[in-house]
Amino acid sequence: MGTHILDAMAREGFEEVIALHDRASGLRAFLGIHDTLRGPAFGGIRRWGYLDERQALIDCLRLSRAMTHKCALADLPAGGGKLVVLDDPDLDLELAYTAIGRAVERLGGRFYTGPDVGTGEAELEYACAQTRYVTSPGPAGPGQLADATAEGVFQGMASGLRHLDGEEDWERRTVVIQGLGEVGARLAKRLTQRGARVFGAEIDPDRAAEVASELNIELVDPATETSLPCDVFAPCAMGGIVHDVTLERLRCRLVAGAANNVLARALHGDRLHERQILYAPDFLLNSGALIRGALFHLEGRREPVDKIGERIGRAMDTIFARAAEEDLPPARVAIREAEDRISRWRGEGRPEAVR
Ligand code: NAI
Repeated sequence: MGTHILDAMAREGFEEVIALHDRASGLRAFLGIHDTLRGPAFGGIRRWGYLDERQALIDCLRLSRAMTHKCALADLPAGGGKLVVLDDPDLDLELAYTAIGRAVERLGGRFYTGPDVGTGEAELEYACAQTRYVTSPGPAGPGQLADATAEGVFQGMASGLRHLDGEEDWERRTVVIQGLGEVGARLAKRLTQRGARVFGAEIDPDRAAEVASELNIELVDPATETSLPCDVFAPCAMGGIVHDVTLERLRCRLVAGAANNVLARALHGDRLHERQILYAPDFLLNSGALIRGALFHLEGRREPVDKIGERIGRAMDTIFARAAEEDLPPARVAIREAEDRISRWRGEGRPEAVR
């Protein structure tokens, strides 16, 4: 398939990659386990219409490695994993997720999984019937994950504002939220409750109307979402939103949202820094769901969302302070911190400078 998988695994320090196929459902999937030195691997199930299996495999490796970074920064006794399913219109979802549940069970707790793009409550229920290592969306599970994510984003945003101005001062703040889905709407609620002025951009008109009628927010055209003057731009839709074009348009002082991989490329974080726009690294900011899920599975407790938010806020304070001391982009500092921690637990020396 043109991908030297063992070379790639050795380069990135992977432990295991499993190719899954199930005759009955047509399931084709990859399960990556990046690191279990500190504890079991955690990572959701992404179901996506990949062009081919090479693309799916690369995504699986990239995402499972990113989960190790996320666990390290969140200071969890866990590592990264990911299960990536090649979506297909003929895929029988019930049988496919049943097969996934059996595969996860066979790993005996080395890998815990849960929701991600393409995997919601219905799919998780099928997998949960086969194993306890899948996060149950029902009352037996850890509880609302999106709420934990929204609280983490809110507290991380507060940390960013304190870093910029020494105070949060919500009543004088304007926040543009891109995407009023599970996380965006919950974030909007927290902000309006503190008196912030919230603009929401949502491409689904029904969803936009529903959230706007519930909360005191103003809707804006998604075509203008990145260019509105505001204190904070909060990307809570899809990744890659800060790229060559949007970077020049942004008229905010802080970028802080839930979306994964907000920066199209690492250098866009450097360019934000040059433009004196503070960037809250997404993989720390959006780790609320991971923290909630991991503590539930590892310690059997449902961590209250305010505790999760405080934890993320404190971690963000540290990253912003170090970034300021060294005049470095916060994303670079966060990646370096994560890599330092991973190297320490692997008993290695300090890794090479962050690329
Ligand atoms: P969601 O699917 O419920 O909401 C996303 C919303 O964004 C949808 O309503 C969609 O219509 C809208 N949208 C898509 N493109 C848009 C655009 N260009 N402009 C305006 N609106 C747009 O997803 P959810 O759960 O709220 O997650 C949001 C982001 O946060 C995703 O990137 C997700 O991967 C990430 N995330 C979510 C976590 C969670 O606990 N739900 C945990 C960690 C990351």
